[in-house]
Amino acid sequence: MELVRVQNYEEMCDLAAERIIRVVKETESPVLGLATGATPTGVYEKLVSDHRQNGTSYRHVTTFNLDEYVGLGPEDATSYFFYMMEHLFRHIDIPVGQTHIPDGLAKNPEEECVRYEREIEEHGGIDLQILGIGRNGHIGFNEPGTPFSSKTHVVKLTESTREANRPFFDAKDQVPTHAITMGLSTIMKSKKIVLLANGKMKAPVLHRLFTMDEPSPELPASILKQHPNVTIIADEEALSWTTVDELPGMRTRR
Ligand code: PGA
Repeated sequence: MELVRVQNYEEMCDLAAERIIRVVKETESPVLGLATGATPTGVYEKLVSDHRQNGTSYRHVTTFNLDEYVGLGPEDATSYFFYMMEHLFRHIDIPVGQTHIPDGLAKNPEEECVRYEREIEEHGGIDLQILGIGRNGHIGFNEPGTPFSSKTHVVKLTESTREANRPFFDAKDQVPTHAITMGLSTIMKSKKIVLLANGKMKAPVLHRLFTMDEPSPELPASILKQHPNVTIIADEEALSWTTVDELPGMRTRR
């Protein structure tokens, strides 16, 4: 694992966007794994302004998003499909047919999971996966206790996750109870992974991640310690519970 300490959200987004743009420019048919939530919005802003200013093209890019709420469709302003269109896809030149998000309205969500997993494989897997981290250590919607061997699956969201996502909805009872998410083994198959964390709300979970001896499903993000190419880009606030001696074997740079 590589840890890149940055000062603030702005710098985190700059570095993440640079890494994405590099993959987009240097790979023949890049496959990006994308995340939603509050964390990556600034990264997408950077990609959009780079596309406008420097003409970086996404015509040859394929994307797979980590997850989608069960019961929400493209028209729902709180669906992740809607989020991706608003924050990224409609501002760049990616053909919409090359973007993939689990279908939250699928009649048979279990079948949708199998289809989604197969589709990722058929595209040769993900070159670069962007991740946020939940306060409970989830990645995608892989909540604590999710087996490390999990593939794309339907999850029941924990109350803490529903509470964390509450601000995006008018009322708590509108926050969906279930989601479809790439599994932990799906995420681990990505060739490169960049995990982003900013703000003091993420300080306790990063501290737990760094001080944990053995990866455990109790902290789903800890599986990333077993991946050969993971970079965590985290700001000062997110690292405010973390001391340097907690990071044995971890490369750090500013
Ligand atoms: P956030 O969510 O970006 O809204 O903090 C991260 C996550 O839950 O993975």
